[in-house]
Amino acid sequence: MPLDPTPVPDELRGLRIALLVSGGIAAYKVVDLASALTQAGTEVRVAMTPTATRFVGAATFEGVTGHPAVTGLFSGGDSPEPHVALGDWAQLILVAPATANVVGKMAGGRSDDIVTATLLAARCPVVVAPAMNDAMWSKQAVQDNLATLRRRGVTVVEPESGHLASGHSGAGRLAGAQGLFNAMVHAVRARYDLAGRRVVVTAGGTREPIDPVRFISNYSSGKMGFALAAAAADRGARVTLVSAASHPAHHGVEVQHVDTAEEMLAELRSQLRGADLLLMAAAVGDFRPARIARHKIRREETASLNLQLESIPDIVASLAGDEALAGVFRVGFAAEDSDLDSKGVEKLKRKGLHAIVANDISRRDIGFGSDYNAGVLLFADGSRHELEKATKREMADRILDLVLPRLPH
Ligand code: PMT
Repeated sequence: MPLDPTPVPDELRGLRIALLVSGGIAAYKVVDLASALTQAGTEVRVAMTPTATRFVGAATFEGVTGHPAVTGLFSGGDSPEPHVALGDWAQLILVAPATANVVGKMAGGRSDDIVTATLLAARCPVVVAPAMNDAMWSKQAVQDNLATLRRRGVTVVEPESGHLASGHSGAGRLAGAQGLFNAMVHAVRARYDLAGRRVVVTAGGTREPIDPVRFISNYSSGKMGFALAAAAADRGARVTLVSAASHPAHHGVEVQHVDTAEEMLAELRSQLRGADLLLMAAAVGDFRPARIARHKIRREETASLNLQLESIPDIVASLAGDEALAGVFRVGFAAEDSDLDSKGVEKLKRKGLHAIVANDISRRDIGFGSDYNAGVLLFADGSRHELEKATKREMADRILDLVLPRLPH
């Protein structure tokens, strides 16, 4: 009998889920599960042990998920490194059905097939749904292995009792869809506190052209914005990074590249519709050339050059005045060289922000270009939080910890 038809919970929609299938008769049941998750907007990738392919063909999973199922350490799938690719990619892993053999290999740290190698390379929460003969299920060795997995933070979905393929009746049937979804949601909630949220981050220093080969910019490397985007994505948010800097994108982060402040504003106006949070780490220019030369300015033709600059409209201030974006919680960054608190509060008010991170850009060990940062997070209600020196990624997580409880539900 296939799995019961149960609606896919909202928390699982949009996630990247690896479904690892091992060789038990219940393998056919998870075809429906893969199909339901895919139809609900979840990205599902499947890996199968060689034995699992004896029960269900890889083509069946490819048919319902739209992606090739990986069936071996050196075959199937579309990655040059299949043994780590899926574990690296996934935000959640479901092992279903998990045979006694796979449970034992997981507990023992073995990785001699694509399923166990993926599990060893995984960085995300893992849910294991055992299904086996009742005699195997009752063996102390199996129960000890499951206890080991639970101790290590793996969520185990107990099998159900009923008719088994062996003809016996007893415990060992793969849990139903409701039980599997509940366990998956539980694992997601524990790790992904931004699941279901849409976050927009800005990064880098905007570039304002002087002529076709020159521009005015600043020292921002984009590292702070990229760290915020990676942290939000790792915590389950759908993240768009509007960036004037170029770095490799983190898994799950959609990057929109911009150059000028005007381009950044236009991109933000479209990206922020329906968003929950804006993290404005970009160093946006305050001035730009009043006129852009259409052709390269040649040194042979001008002994000296006077550039007339005009001020650039404030992006976050104009977003604050846009009624359609009223639901977006706006966090700015203030680049200061003294009086972080007073200058931060002044900017927070002037730009209509809900919070601001003031950081000291006169220090060489943090701020522009550094892998580290420090500062103070100030909220519009007057509360203040010291952000101790940390890597930009650690600081990003700390900022999210403090901002998350303030996001409207
Ligand atoms: O990129 P990194 O090398 O990692 O360095 C990180 C950083 C130092 C650039 C970052 O931590 C930081 O401080 N970013 C904000 C830089 C800045 O533009 O500060 P500001 O005080 O000039 O502006 C305050 C806020 O207004 C910022 O959120 C800024 O994005 C925004 N702004 C500024 C000017 C403008 N025309 N429009 C804006 O929206």
